[in-house]
Amino acid sequence: MKKLVVAIDGHSSCGKSTTAKLVAKDLGYAYIDTGAMYRAVTLYFLEHYIDFTNPKKIDQALQEIHITFERNTKSNRNEVFLNGLNVEDEIRKMYISNKVSEVSCIPAVRHAMVSQQQKMGRKRGVVMDGRDIGTTVFPDAEVKVFMTADVDTRARRRQQELLDKGELVPLDDIIANLQKRDLIDSTRKESPLVRAEDAEILDTSHITIDEQVDFVLHQVSAKLLEQELAKRK
Ligand code: DC
Repeated sequence: MKKLVVAIDGHSSCGKSTTAKLVAKDLGYAYIDTGAMYRAVTLYFLEHYIDFTNPKKIDQALQEIHITFERNTKSNRNEVFLNGLNVEDEIRKMYISNKVSEVSCIPAVRHAMVSQQQKMGRKRGVVMDGRDIGTTVFPDAEVKVFMTADVDTRARRRQQELLDKGELVPLDDIIANLQKRDLIDSTRKESPLVRAEDAEILDTSHITIDEQVDFVLHQVSAKLLEQELAKRK
């Protein structure tokens, strides 16, 4: 059966990666968390004191950055590596969340990440989550879902995730961070966060993770059926 690209875009912390991971597992597809890539670049820039306004330094830094995903057989999750070092936990911390939108606005950063993401998905059979997958990275993705949820729900979920990792962050700080990131992500010049015209909207404010996953899997089945019927014509 032909393998598809499943693009899951949407606002910060509305359950994109949880959904994408489970959908990928169900389909036997690869899962690529593109937000993790922008977070890894942010970590590198902060650790190396890269001036976000200096294009030359940014270009040099991008040459030095190698991002890979590796499966952790113990936790059975895909973890992100920056130049060979596992940075999965570090990149989820609040100090990275506070800077990542600034870094992901930089055109050179976006060009480098988008081209790497296109290479990763060229054989198809991937579920990719992010902000611009259905519009810029894979405008030809067969399945596109745009996820959203109200900001309170998103903030509470994010707070719990951080708490599970031992970081206690006040709810107001998280709400402020989510609103700031939404604003920067959706108003930037280069591939802003917008719903692709052909993306299905999924509001996760009042539904369970199983329901989110079923929604996406249903879109995939419908697309595969449509392709099968088209072949028989
Ligand atoms: O999905 P996330 O919250 O881990 O993403 C972190 C940031 O990266 C987010 O604020 C915007 C940026 N991002 C992006 O600009 N384009 C993507 N495809 C994925 C993430």
